[in-house]
Amino acid sequence: MLRRNRILRTSPAIRAMVAETILKPSDFIAPLFITEGEQVKEEISSMPGYFRYSLDNTVKEAKELWSMGIKSVLLFVKCTDELKDNKGTEAVNPDGLMQRAIKSIKQAVPEMIVMTDVALDPYSSYGHDGIVNGQEIVNDATVEVLARMSLSHAAAGADFVAPSDMMDGRILAIRNTLEANNFDKVGIMSYSAKYASCFYGPFRDALDSAPGFGDKKTYQMDYANAKEAIKETLMDVEEGADIVMVKPALAYLDIISSIKERVNLPVSAYHVSGEYSMIKAAAKMGWLNEEKAILETLTSIKRAGADLIATYFAKDAVKLLG
Ligand code: PBG
Repeated sequence: MLRRNRILRTSPAIRAMVAETILKPSDFIAPLFITEGEQVKEEISSMPGYFRYSLDNTVKEAKELWSMGIKSVLLFVKCTDELKDNKGTEAVNPDGLMQRAIKSIKQAVPEMIVMTDVALDPYSSYGHDGIVNGQEIVNDATVEVLARMSLSHAAAGADFVAPSDMMDGRILAIRNTLEANNFDKVGIMSYSAKYASCFYGPFRDALDSAPGFGDKKTYQMDYANAKEAIKETLMDVEEGADIVMVKPALAYLDIISSIKERVNLPVSAYHVSGEYSMIKAAAKMGWLNEEKAILETLTSIKRAGADLIATYFAKDAVKLLG
């Protein structure tokens, strides 16, 4: 039998009718970078078109995102140097910038799903995601602080905590701590397969959180490995994660798709800072059409199996989808 596959590509209407993957505004999680001060809107030099906002402007931004149909934000704060230490003191401060940000956003846009980054790097004098002892990033003592940090986010009103640290056992510890304190409606979006990646470079500029020594390879995963991503993710599911995540996204589409096949939870993917900056840079040079690159990239991440995408292009994408 002769098959004419091009029939289904004949016109825009036919192509729309048979399109398998359609992006929508509620697919996106918008990361927000928050800094102290008032009326601050600072462009991040390695992320052109993306900003750090003070609380007042963060609230404005959250309102705008909500009005566009974007239903979740993922919060990151830039901690001042004086407040950084090796214990995560500021991370659990009930009046810290993160805790104030959660409250302000929930007050202004109560329905917005507020997700918070849980890891020590923005608060660490060493720029590491955990407590440092000599050259080592100590697991269990870090997990204990991450659980207290999650609790303080929950107490401030966070809907989901999002541990991005890759310590062993943190999902169970966080879940137990939330339960023990009656926060049984707070979800956990686990960065379950997070790779040690050069694509986080611009993010570390945004928060001034680059590691002071060494790298993150003793806790984040080796990009040579795929089975390990399954192991990590299945453990997080058992420990009580509500949403699992693969990070970065574009160089890890195979990982997204194999995790999607194996778990019965929503799968998210983090289209990270370096992936954003690559498109921006190529577009600035006139080498790529930015708008087309955004939609093709995000559609491919969803096609691979991501139900949710954390992306710095959330607003642009919604505008482009019309
Ligand atoms: C911190 C954290 C990082 C990112 C999210 N949370 C950086 C890192 O692990 O070094 C990266 C996000 C991005 O690059 O957009 N634990």
